[in-house]
Amino acid sequence: MSLQLFKAELPQLLLITIIFSRLWPRITGIESSMEQLSSTIPAFESYMQIMNEANNAKELHEADNSSDNEERLRMREGLECRDVYFRYTRSESAFTLEQINLYIPANRLTAIVGRSGVGKSTLIDILMGLMQPEKGHILIDGKPLTTENLLSLRSSIGYVPQDPFLFNASIRENMLMFEPDASEMRIWDALSLASASEFVNRLPQGLDTLIGDRGVRLSGGERQRLVLARAILRRPSILVLDEATSALDTENESVIQETLAKLKQTMTIIVIAHRVSTIRDADQVVVLDQGKIVQTGGFYQLAQEKRGLFSSLIGSQMELSLPSDTVS
Ligand SMILES: Nc1ncnc2c1ncn2[C@@H]1O[C@H](COP(=O)(O)OP(=O)(O)OP(=O)(O)O)[C@@H](O)[C@H]1O
Ligand SMILES: [Mg+2]
Repeated sequence: MSLQLFKAELPQLLLITIIFSRLWPRITGIESSMEQLSSTIPAFESYMQIMNEANNAKELHEADNSSDNEERLRMREGLECRDVYFRYTRSESAFTLEQINLYIPANRLTAIVGRSGVGKSTLIDILMGLMQPEKGHILIDGKPLTTENLLSLRSSIGYVPQDPFLFNASIRENMLMFEPDASEMRIWDALSLASASEFVNRLPQGLDTLIGDRGVRLSGGERQRLVLARAILRRPSILVLDEATSALDTENESVIQETLAKLKQTMTIIVIAHRVSTIRDADQVVVLDQGKIVQTGGFYQLAQEKRGLFSSLIGSQMELSLPSDTVS
């Protein structure tokens, strides 16, 4: 009887078996996909969380991002700090920067000096509008820094940070990162201004050499010159260098010093440097101590104020660097 039944349904049975055998891999496939999905959900959630955090931290939102008509700012007069106070956390009792009154004239070289940890990098972060002072104002050509002119100020700044960043890509790609339309000739011009063209030329692949993660395949001085060239390539109206010459040998540094002297006719330069040779051409030297400005003036003027901090800061380097007639 059953056999009969079986017999009678054999074609259907076969069909069912075939269907099942075809379907089975799908079912197990779905099962493993579900498993995979459940294991990626936490990662996806934290990704979304980071995205949200990043979006919330954005200081300029799409609505007020006027990138279409964003114009590079040409600073005509200067950048000013008016009674600026700053601290990293409100709970701190002491201010990192206190009562900063400073005028940085356009198309001049201003040097900021002071001991380590005194607030030099903090001061230039504030000048570039990367951080807001707790009290006081930043004025550009006499106008307060607002969200409208912040973007144009940023786009007109070439910044060489203390810890320069290079991408794991070719030299050309690194150079074009912020100025994608620059021609090959402009790249070489910028490289030679930063006294980097020679070493790039010597590399077997030239501009197309891959420089490794953060530029590990280059020496410290080569990295700094490359980052300086990248900043110059943008033709900024304000060039900011944070100890960008610290890893350079004397020969390359004197080339860069000449470059700065040349560039300062067409752009405003703010430089933080320890070496006397870099700041000798400065039109204005600002000396910071314990978060306050203790001296400002021309290089030779400050060097002669024997009781000031500046002359003790440069003390040992003085004899080497000052022209003999100014050493009394
Ligand atoms: N992100 C931060 N959060 C909290 N404190 C900070 C932060 N960055 C710097 N500081 C503190 O602020 C002070 C000034 O730091 P800053 O980096 O401006 O010094 P600097 O003059 O540039 O020093 P250096 O010559 O070593 O580069 C230091 O005491 C430092 O510890
Ligand atoms: Mg610093």
